[in-house]
Order: sequence, then structure tokens, then C-alpha cells
Amino acid sequence: MTKTSNDDDLALAFDECIARGDAVEPRDWMPEGYRATLVRQISQHAHSEIIGMQPEAEWISRAPSLHRKAILIAKVQDEAGHGSYLYSAAETLGVARDDLFEMLLTGKQKYSTIFNYPMLSWADVGVMGWLGDGAAIVNQVPLSRCSYGPYARAMVRVCKEESFHQRQGFDLIQAMMAGTDEQKQMVQDAVDRWWWPCLMLFGPSDRHSSHSKQSMAWGIKRFSNDELRRRFVDQAVPQIEHFGLTVPDPELRWDESAGCYKFGEIDWEDFKSVMQDGGPLGKERIAHRQRVHDEGAWVREAAEAYARKQDERLSA
Ligand code: 3HC
Repeated sequence: MTKTSNDDDLALAFDECIARGDAVEPRDWMPEGYRATLVRQISQHAHSEIIGMQPEAEWISRAPSLHRKAILIAKVQDEAGHGSYLYSAAETLGVARDDLFEMLLTGKQKYSTIFNYPMLSWADVGVMGWLGDGAAIVNQVPLSRCSYGPYARAMVRVCKEESFHQRQGFDLIQAMMAGTDEQKQMVQDAVDRWWWPCLMLFGPSDRHSSHSKQSMAWGIKRFSNDELRRRFVDQAVPQIEHFGLTVPDPELRWDESAGCYKFGEIDWEDFKSVMQDGGPLGKERIAHRQRVHDEGAWVREAAEAYARKQDERLSA
């Protein structure tokens, strides 16, 4: 196809919109690369929310009290809601939800590696909320200022709910740290297990991040992976120390001149292998997702039949 002056005008209007910091809306013209980047990121984000329900849902029946069970059920339901808003935001870019599910189930699209590690004890539920959701908030609050309107608006609500998740995790850990020595040890073990996966949640280092530069130029991402990772470490370490716990990183130290923590290198080989091969639990997570997707077919069919009936009634 030959390029017309109208294409140039549209591209210029798009660039000006991004430069002014205005929101791009679904009906606005956008470059194909911008659209594809958003579909990729939003759908992978949605998949992470949906797959992320699994490790925590496994603990609902083992929660130590009715109070903790009610909180955990609410949290898992929130994650389903986040997945739903995010799939809806992706749909505004012209993709079908069924195709996105297909890409998740066939491994063509990723989800966050953090959900491919096992949750071995009740303390893991607390640490996942406190540190895992804490990391997610640091990563996601800037996305509520993303240049694409529907994604930014979805993130406002998601982040409010993630703050509640982080708070419940902190509260759970606070209760365990006021408990027995065995409970305190369970928390330390959980911190040791989840610290590095939490740092990996921010993605590859800036040097190896293939999409960051362009995503930041388009105002999709506001900060680089390393910047957000550093911000999380600066927030998390004082909280960990407040509880008398330790960070499993012998290289971690406060750097007075830089005014931030310096920390050790992530095991990038582990990150890559979990991202590519699914790590300890990838196959299980996808098989479970496939099973519940199949079992939910009647719900989707009933919803479609209902929508058809409503349409017929309206057009009669
Ligand atoms: N796990 C799996 N894959 C990851 C990853 C991770 N932790 N970090 C990066 N990747 C993938 C990217 O998706 C990309 O793969 P692709 O080219 O096949 O799409 C590749 O590694 C290169 O990474 P880039 O840094 O170049 O990619 P991005 O610019 O997209 O940055 C990101 C990665 C920081 C994760 C960004 O996409 C992002 O901020 N996404 C939105 C937030 C999100 O998805 N968070 C996932 C956690 S869900 C959650 O927080 C729920 C809570 O309850 C815990």
C-alpha cells in the first residue's frame, strides 16, 4: 500500500497526542506497532492475573481461620476481575478474547514467571500478598498513566485492589511474626523463596528488555524495568528489616552516596528458563487453566444465548 499525505497527518496527530500526554482512545488512529505492543502487554498482564489465581486458590481450603479464608476468597475473586477488565481493555484494540485464551493455552503468549513457583506454606500466602503484590503495585501504578485510555483506566481500579491485597499480606505476616519461633521461621523461609521471583516480576534488565525503549517513547511504560525494580527494593527492604527478617542477598547494602540499596544480580538463567519452559509448575498451570476453560463452556454458551435473546427482544 502506498503512503498518502493523510497517513502522515494521522501519524503527526498521534505523535502530538503522545507528546501532550493526552489519552489515545480505541477509535483514534494509532500506528500498528503501538496497537500490537498494547495487545501483547495487556493480554499477557490479563493472563498473569488469571493464572495468578491458581496458587492462592489452592490455599483457600487450608486457611487457618474463617476470617483469613474470607479475605483470601475475596482476593482470588479480585484477580478474576482484574483479568476481566484487562481482557476487555485488550478487546478495544480489535482482538477477540477467545484468540487470547488460545494464545495463552498454546504457550504463544506469556504470563508472569512468578506464578510458576510453588506456594509451600501458609506464610507464602502472606509473603505473596505483602511482597508479590507490593512489587505488582510498584510496576502497575505508573500504568494508570499509560497513554492508552482503556488500559490506564482499568489500572486505576486494579491498583486500588492490589493495595488491599498488599495490606492483607502485611497483616498476615504481622500476625505470624507475633507468633511462635516456628511461625517466624516459616515467614523467613517464604521470604527466601519469593524474594528473587519478586525482583524478576519487573522483567529483564534494561540492557536486555527488547520492548522498553519503544514502549516508553509511546508512553505505554513510564519507567524502565530496572528503575521500578530499584524502587521496589528501596521500599521492601526496610519493611523486611522492620520484622527482624533478612533478605536472601549477601550483596545487598545501603549505598549512602547513591541514596538507594545496591543489590546482587538476579539469576537470569533461571528467569529465562522459567519464562521459556514454564519452570516447576508451568505445565500444571496451563493444564488446569485448560480444564476450567472447558468446564466453563456451558457458562459462555448460556451467556451468549441470553445476549442473543436480549438482542432479539430489543429488535422486535
Ligand atoms: N514473566 C514472564 N515474562 C516476562 C516477564 C516476567 N516476569 N518480564 C518480561 N517478560 C517477557 C515480556 O513479556 C517479553 O516477552 P514477549 O516479547 O514475548 O512479549 C519479554 O519478556 C521481554 O521483556 P520486556 O521488558 O522487553 O517486555 P515489556 O516491555 O513488556 O516489559 C513488563 C515487561 C515489565 C512485565 C511489562 O509488560 C509490564 O509492566 N506489564 C504489565 C504488568 C504485568 O503484566 N505484570 C505481571 C504480574 S501480574 C500481577 O502483578 C498480579 C499480582 O496479583 C501479583
